[in-house]
Parts: sequence; structure tokens; C-alpha cells
Amino acid sequence: MSIILLATEKPFAKDAVDKISRVVNDAGHQLQLLEDYTDKKDLLEAVKNADALIVRSDVVDKEVMDAGANLKIVVRAGAGYDNLDLAAATEKNILCMNTPGQNANAVAEAAFGMMVYMSRKQYNGSSGTELRGKKLGIIGYGNIGRYMAQIARGFGMEVYAYKRNMDRLALQIDGVTPAASFEDIFEHCEYVSLHIPSTAETKGVIDHHLLKLLPKGGMLINTARLDVVNEEDLLRLMEERNDITYVTDFIPKLESAFKEKFPKRIFYPAKKMGAQTEEANVNAGIAAAKQIIDFLDKGIDTFRVN
Ligand code: 3PG
Repeated sequence: MSIILLATEKPFAKDAVDKISRVVNDAGHQLQLLEDYTDKKDLLEAVKNADALIVRSDVVDKEVMDAGANLKIVVRAGAGYDNLDLAAATEKNILCMNTPGQNANAVAEAAFGMMVYMSRKQYNGSSGTELRGKKLGIIGYGNIGRYMAQIARGFGMEVYAYKRNMDRLALQIDGVTPAASFEDIFEHCEYVSLHIPSTAETKGVIDHHLLKLLPKGGMLINTARLDVVNEEDLLRLMEERNDITYVTDFIPKLESAFKEKFPKRIFYPAKKMGAQTEEANVNAGIAAAKQIIDFLDKGIDTFRVN
């Protein structure tokens, strides 16, 4: 019997935790919970006896892995795994995985919902704009990007997407026009939604050079990662142009400057909420538990990322 620790600073819905618990118990393992914690010390303590760890955006660095002397596997119940120190994990022979696609629809619905909300000026009584007939540019066409495209097409938007090594035919089948570059997207689309991971290559990649290309009334939607946007450049552009809006699922690093200067042109929730639906919690949580059980019991390592 192995101990599987579910450690979530931002807890899953109760239904998801109940279902994860059932999957783990049925497989003859034991689930331990550390939910809603605020102090890393609690994680360092809880991980001590764990053989496996499920997390969300919780940071799993070398210190956590050192504390988890029995750890064999860490699964990020979600898509982006920039919160896991893969090098430290590999060194300690700990396998890392993610659960791609399991929360993708939730993120796409959140991104789109915020787009509508800001297009309608936060429903503040003044006239907003409609999405029908406008262009949405999707940067990074994975599971989330694909759901974004489906929703946008339902709203009557023209959809463009850029992806490295893109399969042009697959995009066309989805009714999406392949874009040649980031520039191509920013130059032609009023709405640009980011769905790229945070890597050394993408940090700060959305800069003034790209942002200034946005057509009149442009809106940047960032549910990808905070650091892919160069916030200094975005602030500068918003100072230069009063038609630009920013919607994000993260609290900006330059929060007070954005809030003070452009309270009506920026929106972000109090907590990262893109993947926070019961369905996404159930899907990602159960996938993570099953992946761990398959690995512990059968050595299956699908979705391994290190
Ligand atoms: C992800 O990478 O899956 C999303 O950013 C969701 O993150 P969360 O699990 O912390 O909500």
C-alpha cells in the first residue's frame, strides 16, 4: 500500500476529492489530504511519508522533494508544469507527469467569459462591443486553444491560430486560419488569447513590439502564465493607447500600477480561476490519481514530462 498525498493550496471541489479518494482506496492505496494550506512548512511536513504527490500550481521544488524521502512520482493535476523542478526530480529519480487536456474546457470558458465581460465594459451601463465578426487570434493551439476556437466560432468570430510545427490541415478542419507568426496574429486580430507554456523561450515574449501591432480596440487575454507577458511593455502601450484592454487569470506583478492607471481597462480575478470548475477538478484529479496508480502498480509512465 502506498501513500498518495493530495496537496492543493487552492482546493478541488469536494466531489472531486471524494472521487479521487474512492479511486485511490479501490486500488488499495491510501489518500492523504493537505488542502487550503498557506505555509510551505505544512507541505514539507505532509510530504514526509508520501510515495506519490498530486498538486495543482503548488510549487514542488528541491526542498519539497528532499523532504519527501519516499517520493517516487509527482503529478501536476493540470497542464502547465512550470511549478515542478524537473531537474531536481530527475536527479532524485522522481517521475513527473501532467494531465493534459483534463481542465482545458474550463480554462477556455473562463478566458472567453472574461473576454465577453470586458467587451461589454464590465456591464457598467455604457455601450460595449460585440464579438461577432471580430477576429480572435490564438497563440498556442493545444487543448485549450482548440476549445477557444470552438467557442469563438459559435459566437461568429473569425479564428486565427499560431502554433509551432502546426498541422495546417488540422487547423483548417477546425475552421481556423493558420497564422504565419505571432506578428501575423497581433497585426490582424482584435482579440489575442495566449495559450503557451512558460519556458525560458516564452518568458516576456509578448512585448511592446507585438502589442503595438494590435488593431484598434485590441484586447489581450492571458490565461497562460503571468510571465509570458512583459508587463512593463504592456503598461507602456496602455499609456500610449487608450483603446487597449488586458484580461488575465493572474494577479499582475505590477498590479498597483495597472489598477491605479487603468481600472476600467484591466480585469483579473482575486485568485487564478481558469481551471476552477467541479468538472475540471474531477477530470484532472482522477486522471492524476489513476496515472499514479498505473505507475506504482504497473510501471506505466504515460504523460511523463521528465
Ligand atoms: C494548468 O496549468 O493546468 C492551469 O494553469 C490550472 O492551474 P490550477 O490547477 O492551479 O488552477
